[in-house]
Amino acid sequence: MSANTINGKELAHKLREEMAEEVSRLRSEGIVPHLTVIIVGDDPASKSYVNGKKKASAQTGISSEVIEMPSSLSQDRLLEKIEELNNDEAVHGILVQLPLPEHIDEQLVIESISPYKDVDGFHPFNIGKMMTGDAAFLPCTPYGILTMLHSYDIPISGKHAVVLGRSNIVGKPVGQLLLNENATVTYCHSRTDNLYDYTRSADILIAAVGKPNMISADDIKEGSVIIDVGINRQEDGSLTGDVDFASAAEKASHITPVPKGVGPMTITMLLQNTIKAAKGLSR
Ligand code: GUN
Repeated sequence: MSANTINGKELAHKLREEMAEEVSRLRSEGIVPHLTVIIVGDDPASKSYVNGKKKASAQTGISSEVIEMPSSLSQDRLLEKIEELNNDEAVHGILVQLPLPEHIDEQLVIESISPYKDVDGFHPFNIGKMMTGDAAFLPCTPYGILTMLHSYDIPISGKHAVVLGRSNIVGKPVGQLLLNENATVTYCHSRTDNLYDYTRSADILIAAVGKPNMISADDIKEGSVIIDVGINRQEDGSLTGDVDFASAAEKASHITPVPKGVGPMTITMLLQNTIKAAKGLSR
């Protein structure tokens, strides 16, 4: 079998076009979706991510502002700024780019953002709502993965979904979202014994570990769906995922490439969450 490639770049483009139309409608009703991003310090990778968010917002007609703060900033000053944004009715979404400098308590900062403006979906309020299956802001990468599965009409209910990785941002929430859709979910991680016994029985395999090519054809089930969240920089500067694409594609029914797979979906879902926030959907 040769797998269908799940083209995240193409899907993201299509969704962003639909969103642009929706934003235009909202604007004509006097609602201008607005995202405020706070970046603390001058980490080049963070700056590049934030630029991507700003550019994507503009392309979709979403208004955005990037607030740059020095890494010497006190925690109290950051919390004050967030409080100000929480109370600003023109701001629909607030995103504090992570990681933060060591003297700032990241969890405290996440919890200081109004859950109704938490477009990252990192606030415990939204995580709790997601667990109970209620309307919530969903974390962008898991939300993007789910959107890909839906868009390609991939059945989830009753399927065995195996999640490699248990991060708070990807692994844990993506498993929860699949469970909410009646998948049978197994989480595997660095301490899992006989990990490949699980990967070989997965109908849907989500690899979010950060280990280049740890999954190849021998490790997957014939006809399975492979979602590769890994983004690993190789010595020659190119990117590769957690999955050996060429070999896995011979056996899977669907597979995401790296790049142009899950990556472009993440920012797209941030835009979706900002539109949701502007419409007050999760209230
Ligand atoms: N740093 C890396 N990824 C993310 C993300 O999705 N959200 C935030 N706030 N910071 C990040």
